[in-house]
Amino acid sequence: TLRGSFALKARKANRASRYGLQLVASYKVAILGAAGGIGQPLAILIKMSPLVSALNLYDIANVKGVAADLSHCNTPSQVLDFTGASELGDCLKGANVVVIPAGVPRKPGMTRDDLFNINANIVMSLVEAVADNCPDAFIHIISNPVNSTVPIAAEVLKQKGVYNPKKLFGVTTLDVVRANTFVAQKKNLKLIDVDVPVIGGHAGITILPLLSKTKPTVSFTDEEVEQLTVRIQNAGTEVVEAKAGAGSATLSMAYAAARFVESSLRALDGDGDVYECSFVQSDLTDLPFFASRIKLGRNGVEALIPSDLIGLSEYEGKMLEALKPELKASIEKGIAFVQKQP
Ligand code: NAD
Ligand code: LMR
Repeated sequence: TLRGSFALKARKANRASRYGLQLVASYKVAILGAAGGIGQPLAILIKMSPLVSALNLYDIANVKGVAADLSHCNTPSQVLDFTGASELGDCLKGANVVVIPAGVPRKPGMTRDDLFNINANIVMSLVEAVADNCPDAFIHIISNPVNSTVPIAAEVLKQKGVYNPKKLFGVTTLDVVRANTFVAQKKNLKLIDVDVPVIGGHAGITILPLLSKTKPTVSFTDEEVEQLTVRIQNAGTEVVEAKAGAGSATLSMAYAAARFVESSLRALDGDGDVYECSFVQSDLTDLPFFASRIKLGRNGVEALIPSDLIGLSEYEGKMLEALKPELKASIEKGIAFVQKQP
């Protein structure tokens, strides 16, 4: 678990420092949109990681107070604040991982695609700065619609001549977190043991949990599969409606994003056993981007895991074909947006 992994690393760090050893590595993480609903809890979770030596917080407003507040926590990383476009370059220089939760969230009645017009521009300009200042960093895109913002980021990086498909990630960890939680509740399983791969994309029917691949092996009735799949697909909307105009998931998203950051840092640090689901450039289907399980390594995506797509249930096979047209259109919309820029 995230908490267990933090605690273990911290114990190792303490033991090492008693003997004057430097066993814990030091990475720089930048959060763009750090003063927002996701940005703030994400910042505190990353501040707790013993793998992080520098935490750079960027936003267009209100980030000074967030950084001052966080900087009083007695964990290793130094927290710095950066406000406005003129400070963005300094925020990004030397970053190993850049997390982007900048942008507007949904209100009830909206789809993620309704956020496209505002968030496409935000992601485009932030990724331009990443290309100019830390092209080698892992880039984690949280801003919605992820199905389009990741292709936007790829296109910007291509135009800048620095695109590395192994280092660009759409963060879909929250879909896995939700699937694990809902399945454990429904089947009365120990939460820590449950792992459900989620493939496709991150909006509505493009979110496809592969319940037939749940670990530990568990059987579901057709009704349970249908009910769980729909709940996982609509979980974002469930939160948007409960918040009734005050935004979308922030706390569970921060938890999920912190898990993906910690996995990335462990991979950078040489751990050879790191697997996560993410929306990445992919040749597993005929779509250019697709979420699946991936193996993470020092250089980013070390391998896509094709085995999850083999032996799908009839329902999953049908849902996979059904999601493709929507996902394809969202990807193409993102690419066209960048290519249409003057
Ligand atoms: P929020 O409005 O609370 O915070 C967004 C922050 O971004 C604000 O602090 C704002 O000042 C900042 N911002 C706006 N333009 C910026 C720019 N150009 N540069 C830097 N910062 C900028 O929103 P939130 O609840 O934190 O959600 C952020 C985004 O994350 C939304 O698009 C939301 O849909 C998305 N989201 C994605 C997932 C996922 O699973 N991938 C989950 C939840 C939310
Ligand atoms: C989520 O899945 O919670 C996010 O994508 C936010 C949203 O708009 O639902």
